[in-house]
Amino acid sequence: MCGIVGYTGAHEASPILLAGLRRLEYRGYDSSGIATISDSQMIVRKKSGRVRVLEEALVVEPAPGSCGISHTRWATHGPATDRNAHPHVGHGGTVAVVHNGVIENHSSLRKELEARGIVFKSQTDTEVIAHLIAVELGDGDDLLAAVEAILPRLEGTYGLAVVSPRCPGQVIGARLGSPLVLGLGEGEHLIASDPVAILPHTSRVAFLQDGEVVRVTPHDFEIRHRERGSITPRIDRIDWKPDAGELSGYDHYMQKEIHEQPDTVRDACRGRLRKAEGTAYFGGLNMSPRQLRGIRRVVFAACGTSWHAALVGEYLIERLARLPVEVEYASEFRYRNAPLDSRTLVFVLSQSGETADTLGALREATRQGHPTLAICNTVGSTIAREADGGIYLHAGHEVGVASTKAFSAQVAVLTMLALELGRLRHLSFPDGVAVVEALESVPDLIAEVLKTEPIIARAAEKLTHAQSALYLGRDIHFPVALEGALKLKEISYLHAEGYPTAEMKHGPIALIDKQTPCVFVAPKGSLHAKTLSNVEEVRARLGPIISVGTEGDESLMSLSDSFLPIPDVPEIIQPLLAVIPLQLLAYHVARLRGCDIDKPRNLAKSVTVE
Ligand code: F6R
Repeated sequence: MCGIVGYTGAHEASPILLAGLRRLEYRGYDSSGIATISDSQMIVRKKSGRVRVLEEALVVEPAPGSCGISHTRWATHGPATDRNAHPHVGHGGTVAVVHNGVIENHSSLRKELEARGIVFKSQTDTEVIAHLIAVELGDGDDLLAAVEAILPRLEGTYGLAVVSPRCPGQVIGARLGSPLVLGLGEGEHLIASDPVAILPHTSRVAFLQDGEVVRVTPHDFEIRHRERGSITPRIDRIDWKPDAGELSGYDHYMQKEIHEQPDTVRDACRGRLRKAEGTAYFGGLNMSPRQLRGIRRVVFAACGTSWHAALVGEYLIERLARLPVEVEYASEFRYRNAPLDSRTLVFVLSQSGETADTLGALREATRQGHPTLAICNTVGSTIAREADGGIYLHAGHEVGVASTKAFSAQVAVLTMLALELGRLRHLSFPDGVAVVEALESVPDLIAEVLKTEPIIARAAEKLTHAQSALYLGRDIHFPVALEGALKLKEISYLHAEGYPTAEMKHGPIALIDKQTPCVFVAPKGSLHAKTLSNVEEVRARLGPIISVGTEGDESLMSLSDSFLPIPDVPEIIQPLLAVIPLQLLAYHVARLRGCDIDKPRNLAKSVTVE
């Protein structure tokens, strides 16, 4: 989704801003732009398309200056055109603004400004902010005061960066509901919507909080909160693995991240498994065993892939801990006024920690007075900071827009959570030890599954020309089927739907013909014989069959056009293995179809608007 990078210091701003934008490309965007201040002049360049297009434009028409702001836009109001790209310039050319988020009252503000004779150049909601600041600034030169004065008029969410030729060397940032981080360098300061953009410059950062405004100059910064006045921020240090942003020999980040999953699961489990007690333990939950034992119900709220992981968690917790679990779409939960009692434990799950709907769900649960916990990957993200406690995934930076390793880390964490909750109830010590041992074996087993990539790549050829596919799984494999279908949709643009296997008979079976493959997630387990009957039903209707099954399963193999094997393991860890072939299947279908795998159309890495 949209990205912001701002810089003020001793160096030329535009190469630094462009490098920052390139590091944000993974988030998804459709246009980009830059504004710099040089000799009290403001230079603005913006282009639809990739950052590369902007870079080419800057070769022809450079943007000099050592202070500037830049943006990658993911269109919300108005299509992806040069005009709608940010920065937007305020009336009289005195300010330039880049903005993440949505201004909900933009129409009324626009009408008001138009009535004053201001002519709009774009269809965006952001342009109203630029004009409001310009009008407020008037002939003055206190940009911070002008920004602070107009912010109460904005309804909605924003992360903002603003520059003005009246105030060379200054960048103003503001945050309400859309993240902004300040980078503290030597003789330079940066601001960004995502620390990834600025970490090569500095690892010392301060995360702005909602309601805060910052003014940065090369040697100084000042943060103010709209109610609390001057703020001394907490300075965090973020560890940056230099190669985390590199492809390391892979063709795409998605492929790299799929292959990282043995380490992902290892890192998620590190220090959390207690074999001697047959359990798992999370320090960050901030809850005593007595409090955890008192829980009567668990609610998960999440979106997309995180929602699928939560569904796996539902099966695991119900099975190991016999606790009722509900999994909610965060976007629905936040407005649904769901009845929660004091013995309900509310978890939100989010890779990015910035998803607006999930953050809304967290805030709704907090508003109702419930302690809230987060399962999150991004350290220091808004969700991680606002939750009362939680569990970090330790999956490392996920660049691929299609989430892969975060899913595995979430499922590993949820397996451990189910184990801990189970051991606080009726789960026996030997059964607990068996889960610990199963989890310990997962990284090496994922490595085994990854070796089958050539078989999966061949199976992908069967899907490439399909119009549509069904993904089917029973019990704990139903969410895995949903996740497989989502991966295919996202990166190959093929229509795919996930269903519980037996549900197929109640409607979707009408779709099955020679052109509509069915992908069965069917490792051996308690319901295997029933699944085989469902496979037969598809075969009888000539539907091509791709199946993920237990190696050596002759019955399933003989019914399948392509058989994708996983090792024979206990059901409890099967989802962690079964998802791997589905991720690779989607990857290879997209590759064969020539899709832009790391930048799939219309998608954004972190969805910071409702
Ligand atoms: C799917 C995908 C999205 C995200 C969803 C939630 O590949 O990436 O469906 O899972 O937008 O994002 P997080 O987990 O960051 O809250």
